[in-house]
Amino acid sequence: MIVAEKMAGFGRRSSWIRKMFEEGARLKEIYGVDQVCDFSLGNPDLSPPPEFGQRLQSLAASGASGVHAYMANAGYRETREMVAKRIAAEQGVDPGADGVIMTCGAAGAINIALKAILNPGDEVIVVAPYFVEYGFYVDNHGGRAVPVAAGDGFDLDPDAVGAVITEKTRAIIVNSPNNPSGMVYPASTLKRLAAVLASAADRYGRPVFLINDEPYRRIVYDQVEIPAIMDLWPHTMVADSFSKELSIPGERIGYLAVSPAIAEHDDLVNAMILANRILGFVNAPAFMQRAIAALDDVCVDYSPYHRRRDLFSRILRDAGLAFTPPRGGFYFFPRSPIADEVEFCDILRDEKILAVPGRGFGTPGYFRLAFCVNDKVIERSAAGFKRAVERAGRS
Ligand SMILES: Cc1ncc(COP(=O)(O)O)c(C=O)c1O
Repeated sequence: MIVAEKMAGFGRRSSWIRKMFEEGARLKEIYGVDQVCDFSLGNPDLSPPPEFGQRLQSLAASGASGVHAYMANAGYRETREMVAKRIAAEQGVDPGADGVIMTCGAAGAINIALKAILNPGDEVIVVAPYFVEYGFYVDNHGGRAVPVAAGDGFDLDPDAVGAVITEKTRAIIVNSPNNPSGMVYPASTLKRLAAVLASAADRYGRPVFLINDEPYRRIVYDQVEIPAIMDLWPHTMVADSFSKELSIPGERIGYLAVSPAIAEHDDLVNAMILANRILGFVNAPAFMQRAIAALDDVCVDYSPYHRRRDLFSRILRDAGLAFTPPRGGFYFFPRSPIADEVEFCDILRDEKILAVPGRGFGTPGYFRLAFCVNDKVIERSAAGFKRAVERAGRS
């Protein structure tokens, strides 16, 4: 085999979203694009805000020398200052520009964090349902992902987290608003989590780092507030990106912000900056760093997501499916009407509806629907969902 065994194994394990996406492409070829309802991919379909395009044009026209050159691996100071201000406002803790590293998206941020803190065999807790890439990122740096199930309504369960912490636990990744559940963890949950982490630190004599992955922070519904977390646990870092809030995921721009109270702050930040370099990112894209430096107050008009969330809620409810409407992000995570959600996704596929089985997110018995698609696709799916639930009831 040419491909390394581990990668071949990863390819098989990571195939749920890809499998469904490819199945969608196949069905579209046979029946036509307007006959298939493809909810498999979380790829923002809204246009970026006009300010983004205007800013790119003025930057491109400026012609200043050195704008496309390498810079310090942490990124431009002016951009890191902007990020530090936003974190201070969101988290109530100012990391300062020296505590911010510009990265290739939130994915790059999580990878440099893990590279800097993991020794071989260290454990990283992930809360199921979770973003499927976490397991691969942890493995990239010699760690072992330890899944822990979320509690009622997919809220994080601090006691369950406490029960899996061992002397090998190095970090926990927290994602709110959550992909795929749409859950926003309330402040009361995060306070209990901080207490659990504090008692574990006393027990084992070293802190568990909290990596707060929040790329959906600005895509929220019903005026829900995303509580701060950095002021609750000093050993916190925030991984975030502009992928969703500006609808520019292909541009790969994000950051890691490190609490000033974190253990061995300067050494840790230096290790992260080195990781940015030696993982091959080198630095976040220069043009994008300059672009977003002036766009902190700008967000994509995501009212279409809001409208689609309400439309999809009605359709899923009418079909008899059980779910909690997402409070942020653009995913539904309904319960499968039959125990085997893969079988239900197959029934949906027969109706030309593409959904991703929950086991791909560490939570069998559920399935994910991404609603970053045109309203018409959602409307068109109504009859298919009804028929699929009826058929599942007979199986
Ligand atoms: C929960 C979560 N974390 C991280 C990422 C990676 O985001 P980025 O495009 O900023 O790297 C995603 C992307 O979908 C995500 O859903």
